[in-house]
Amino acid sequence: MRDPEDRPPSAASVNRRDFLKGTGVAAAATAVATAVHETAEAQAKAAANVTSTKPVAVKLNINGKAHDATVEPRTTLLDCLRNDLNLTGCKDVCDTSNCGACTVIIDGKATYACTKLAIEVQGKKITTVEGLVNGQTVDDVITAFIKHDATQCGYCTPGFVVAVRAFLNAHPAANLDEIRKGLGGNICRCGTYDGITKAALELATGKKAADRLIAPVAEIAAACCHETSCCAKGGA
Ligand code: FES
Ligand code: FES
Repeated sequence: MRDPEDRPPSAASVNRRDFLKGTGVAAAATAVATAVHETAEAQAKAAANVTSTKPVAVKLNINGKAHDATVEPRTTLLDCLRNDLNLTGCKDVCDTSNCGACTVIIDGKATYACTKLAIEVQGKKITTVEGLVNGQTVDDVITAFIKHDATQCGYCTPGFVVAVRAFLNAHPAANLDEIRKGLGGNICRCGTYDGITKAALELATGKKAADRLIAPVAEIAAACCHETSCCAKGGA
């Protein structure tokens, strides 16, 4: 007996196989059309997310003062500070968030300036190592670094000073272990960890308060600057 589905199609009737073939092709065509549409939509969305390279004006709150700069949107906070605002205390060492030499404080938190774009930190409170010097006085973290000889080449020093300040602000009575962990994001190639740790520990434990008196900037600069950089002098 002949399979009714094998009957030739007629204008009046379409067999099941032809119907399925037809709907399959239609579905495939619809899927292709949908995929093309979605791709076009995704491309349009991606295009909308691409930021222009055209320089834009940024206003940054640094060390309690408003600073204006005009930078490309891709400019990091580190580059903006050093190249556009002449705040060269934070150092550009690894530029890949590994060493901590570029540490600044943003809204109370120690942050690598090389990991932030200048445009994204507008409206935030930024403190650089220059902000730890006020006229003829310096932050007692700097004084403690000098006292404990916590610097050699000095390249990591501004970042460490800022990191210690941010850490002690959040943990004013930290113990040795907490200090070591808290400063784990900063690297010193010269190996001055002993002096840095002692400086932070002395400030945290509150001992020898007299040694923490603020020292004149001139004395600090004379004592701590070597050849390359100095946070107290603001050298590059
Ligand atoms: S320069 Fe930013 S972490 Fe090294
Ligand atoms: S003092 Fe030289 S890298 Fe730290």
